[in-house]
Amino acid sequence: MRAKTWPTIAGLAYGGDYNPEQWPREVWDEDVRLMREAGVSLVSVGIFSWALLEPRQGEFDFGWLDELIDLLHANDISVDLGTPTASPPAWFFVANPDARVISRDGRVMGFGSRGMASHSAPAYRDAAVRIATELARRYGKHPAVVMWHVHNEYGVPVGEDFSPAAVTAFRAWLHHKYGSLEALNAAWGTAFWGQRYGVWEHIGAPAVAPSVVNPAQRLDFARFTDHQLRQCFVAERDAIRAHSEYPITTNFMANQSFTTDLWAWARELDIVSNDHYLTAADPDGHIGLALAADLTRSVARGAPWMLMEHSTSAVNWQPRNVAKRAGEMARNSLAHLARGADAILFFQWRASRSGAEKFHSAMIPHAGTNSRVWREVVDLGATLGALADVRDSRVSAEVAILWDPESIWAQGLEWHPTVDHSTGDAVRTYYERLWRDGITVDFVHPSDDLSRYRLVVAPALYLLTAQHAQRLNSYVADGGTLVVSYFSAIVNEHDAVHSGPFGSVLAESLGVVVEEWLPMRMGEKAYLTWHATAGAAIECDVWQEDLRLEGAQAMATYASGPAAERPAITRHGYGAGAGWYVSTRMAVSELAQVMRAAYADAGIAVSGYAESLEVVTRHGLDADYVFAINHGDAPASMVIEGTQLVANVPVDGNVSIPAGEVVVVRSPRPVEGGDGQRRERPDAVINSR
Ligand code: GLA
Repeated sequence: MRAKTWPTIAGLAYGGDYNPEQWPREVWDEDVRLMREAGVSLVSVGIFSWALLEPRQGEFDFGWLDELIDLLHANDISVDLGTPTASPPAWFFVANPDARVISRDGRVMGFGSRGMASHSAPAYRDAAVRIATELARRYGKHPAVVMWHVHNEYGVPVGEDFSPAAVTAFRAWLHHKYGSLEALNAAWGTAFWGQRYGVWEHIGAPAVAPSVVNPAQRLDFARFTDHQLRQCFVAERDAIRAHSEYPITTNFMANQSFTTDLWAWARELDIVSNDHYLTAADPDGHIGLALAADLTRSVARGAPWMLMEHSTSAVNWQPRNVAKRAGEMARNSLAHLARGADAILFFQWRASRSGAEKFHSAMIPHAGTNSRVWREVVDLGATLGALADVRDSRVSAEVAILWDPESIWAQGLEWHPTVDHSTGDAVRTYYERLWRDGITVDFVHPSDDLSRYRLVVAPALYLLTAQHAQRLNSYVADGGTLVVSYFSAIVNEHDAVHSGPFGSVLAESLGVVVEEWLPMRMGEKAYLTWHATAGAAIECDVWQEDLRLEGAQAMATYASGPAAERPAITRHGYGAGAGWYVSTRMAVSELAQVMRAAYADAGIAVSGYAESLEVVTRHGLDADYVFAINHGDAPASMVIEGTQLVANVPVDGNVSIPAGEVVVVRSPRPVEGGDGQRRERPDAVINSR
């Protein structure tokens, strides 16, 4: 049975997780009345309802869900029906104690919280498929149900499992991957520390050991974990597909959980969906939001995606849960929309009175409807209604950031040159520079076709296979501009160092190799001088290197620190393009000059707007939708012609965006050459592997 690609809902979907089983029946009537008031069109139901739906093994009770779905249907509210497999009932764990997850340090995960059972336990897989099948049989053609929400955030709160079932499955996975013990021993470098295996059964999961565990084994275990979790999803998806044509998703946590390879997962879904929560400790959390949204759109290969969860105000699980202030929820929602989401949903509809999440914000807060949050929820529903036309328009980008989960997994392992370096920080720094320069980016995998991008940035791409490195070299030769930061292209797919000096697999395009890394002491600062501005000092920290130029030109030189007097930033004109190498860590502000020089090479213009004005365009069939989100304290302005949506007023050249507000302008796409022909929509369907 073929699934449709987008649920049948008019306009942009609006709503959230709905957990009515926590409330008496009479509250449901108030819920649907208020949902209508707020313009809610889609709710996710049943995500944590396994214990109610199957109170005893094999005994199902769908009465309450029938009644609920019928009530929603009668009120024109569509259902995103969950499979409850992220939280098996107590009876399941009592009947199947072996299906409990065991942590890396050997602790058996008990009941009384949530989190899946062992991804490799046959009893779990069977039970999950059984409940998914029962739900699909019963509701697979129900007119209120428009899509399926399998599980919840695979890999969170637990992904890795060290139970006996997982160890057995890991061995089988390795056997399938390597075929022979010789191949496995070679890939893992088991000659080191005498780890050579002579018998398959002697291979274990990389649990806690007296010292650091073989990193190649750990990298394979990360791949295996991702694979097992995905197989759990596929099993449920296929069970549903046998009975239903509605599209199927599972909600990611792009850029907030790194357990899963989102490129691979996205290929298995009908619709990509994502959950995003601001990092409260980050005063610029909206930049992290933009990053997550761009990453989500990229793994969706440019297709519209769903913001499955975010929060109306504070969450409850961070050390200090900062509440959103007036207007922030709308800015957040419209930033996701600007970056390609066609659905804006929240966790959750009504704040829970009991349980671990009772202090989490909701669409209906504990304060009730006489509250700022509720009024903003109603306003947002109306705003999304006025923006319905935006649906299915696409975002396009000329710049890409390389994103490879395997590199992130390998980089996260122990005993690297410094603890002060992380892929996440490096990606955020380069992303933030681009964000502040008003440049929209896609994320790409190193195996993707890069030729559609003028500029490709590789922040800390520690693991880069020789084959992928060759693709980057060719990209530059063919006219691309590549920016690579330190500690990139170091190891191959087995976490083994490429032969030759560090970086040699990219030497062709970068014209430089690394003789030695020079990590710096905690808190130590140094300076480099940027030649083009006659030696203006730029601060750096964490890391310097002894570079050997092999054709590249030094664009900046270290003025202090362990590599004083040596090249710090290089540029290599190679073929029709240019390769830049940045051998140290710099803050976002310090990176500005370097990136401007790379933009100039790539022929990319910076926006010229205030840094706090986020401007993103979605391209429709005959119009562009320009979102201008003012994160600053002062009004900002933008030059554009068209119609300001929501307010529904014409804009003839200059539009003012008050502090903290969002303006969306529909700007008709200019016709070309007076021939009356419409230009093609620049569809941003990114090449898939
Ligand atoms: C996650 C989960 C939700 C809820 C929220 C709270 O994203 O999917 O069930 O716990 O976090 O922020």
